[in-house]
Amino acid sequence: MVEAGEMVVEAVAEGSAPADPEVVVLAMRPRGGADVGVQVEDADVAAVAGWGVDLRRRLARSRAKGGRGDLVWIDLEREQPAAVLMVGLGGSTPEELRRSAAAASRRLQGCGEVLVRASRDLDPGQLRAFVEGLHLPTGTVTWGSRPPPAPPARVRVVVGDTVRGPAAVEAGTSHARATLLARRLIHTPPNIKSPEWMADQAREVARATGLDVRVWDPAELARDGFGGILAVGAGSSRSPRLVQLTLRGPGGAPQQAGTPGVRPRHVVLVGKGITFDSGGLSLKPRDAQILMKTDMSGAAVVLAVMGALGLAGELARMAGLRVTGLMCLAENLPGASATRPGDVITHHGGLTSEVLNTDAEGRLVLGDALDYAVRDLGADVVVDVATLTGAATLGLGRQHAALFSNDDGLAESLAEAGAEAGERMWRMPLHAEYARYIESDVADLANVGRGADPMPGAITAALFLQRFVGDAPWAHIDIAGPGRSESERDEGPKGGTGFAARALLRWIEAGAPT
Ligand code: BES
Ligand code: MN
Ligand code: ZN
Repeated sequence: MVEAGEMVVEAVAEGSAPADPEVVVLAMRPRGGADVGVQVEDADVAAVAGWGVDLRRRLARSRAKGGRGDLVWIDLEREQPAAVLMVGLGGSTPEELRRSAAAASRRLQGCGEVLVRASRDLDPGQLRAFVEGLHLPTGTVTWGSRPPPAPPARVRVVVGDTVRGPAAVEAGTSHARATLLARRLIHTPPNIKSPEWMADQAREVARATGLDVRVWDPAELARDGFGGILAVGAGSSRSPRLVQLTLRGPGGAPQQAGTPGVRPRHVVLVGKGITFDSGGLSLKPRDAQILMKTDMSGAAVVLAVMGALGLAGELARMAGLRVTGLMCLAENLPGASATRPGDVITHHGGLTSEVLNTDAEGRLVLGDALDYAVRDLGADVVVDVATLTGAATLGLGRQHAALFSNDDGLAESLAEAGAEAGERMWRMPLHAEYARYIESDVADLANVGRGADPMPGAITAALFLQRFVGDAPWAHIDIAGPGRSESERDEGPKGGTGFAARALLRWIEAGAPT
């Protein structure tokens, strides 16, 4: 694998900005009302005049509008700076800023020292989104001979507020890096990323960020009753794993945080980690298999969130939380020992399912982990993330995840965190009457719905999961749609997007409200 270098983004105060950048990035905004043209700062016009260019005339000639992501590149007849990049900020909402910064970042590929002055009037929330946008187009990986585009070597971002500005730059960087880690794992080809490889990645992240890690091998999964994970992994020569990541407390002890004497609330995140989903014996058509290396996106997101929390451990501790991440790792292949349609399997905790379709495998691995989270870990709140159903994509497309929850407060706070992070979620009903579609003649549950046309497939999948959490506050985020993208656009790449990492981080930073 060849990875583009990591981009360094630093906050600098107005007065201490270096005098010798290669490129200076300045803001332009749409002029309001009937006026045409763009709005720029007088100070910027004066600075650019000093470098020999009439900025207003140049922008008028380029017909720039200042909308989000509009770019005008101005070469100067001098060095340091050798060029000015004008970036349109549109209406300066966090979403627009994230996209504008992403456009600028792509244009700055291959540059050295960059000084961003477009950021100096942004409030901390805006700045954070802008910094996320700078990072999000970077981190490309390739297994080809040609190296991926290099991000600018160093970006200094001018902050007006020298108290809150640097913290906003740091938060934006940490969240965007989580997204980039998830994407790197999702992009990794499935011949490389076996369940064991994913567990090794988790060990590596845990070592680097100070998390505790536990990995169940197949014998341990059998001993502890994880029948769903074992059944899904049974057809592959590369055996399944369950990974548990825990935020370590001060002094290396298991974390006990929060107000003294009060038990910290325990948040458990669960990710679907199918390293390749062929469908198993209920084989997918050939074209539908091509992107199924992304079927471990939920587990990648959980690992990335845990890594970011490990690095910034104080945040979760201050919020009085204990956080555990579970990654359900298996490869779903047909094989001599594969699970058959008709098999009945026993999950962790004792619920049984009749496997009617081996391609509905995500709910089988998640059921085990949800039960373990509630029964064994005593979770106060559980959130699972999964590329679970094509039906969710049919209903909501690629720009909204389907959000299900048995707790209104939790649903609301997750959706809000998602909106702030640029990861939209739309709540769907856990309509109890549809549960009859997943009744089985021979087991507690059937793993696919029967008896309705059309089948509300995203909902029946969520109802299946709900059986494993009892009354514990729980949310399920189906990212089959927004988890991958057909093309590079806005802040997102082509392929796996790492969707939900930033939303979950924001939700945890807000204290994981329910
Ligand atoms: N991993 C798929 C869901 C999926 C489909 C994710 C397309 C991303 C894009 C999941 O395991 C699956 O195969 N679901 C089936 C369920 C069906 C058999 C009830 C589906 O959605 O078709
Ligand atoms: Mn499947
Ligand atoms: Zn799947």
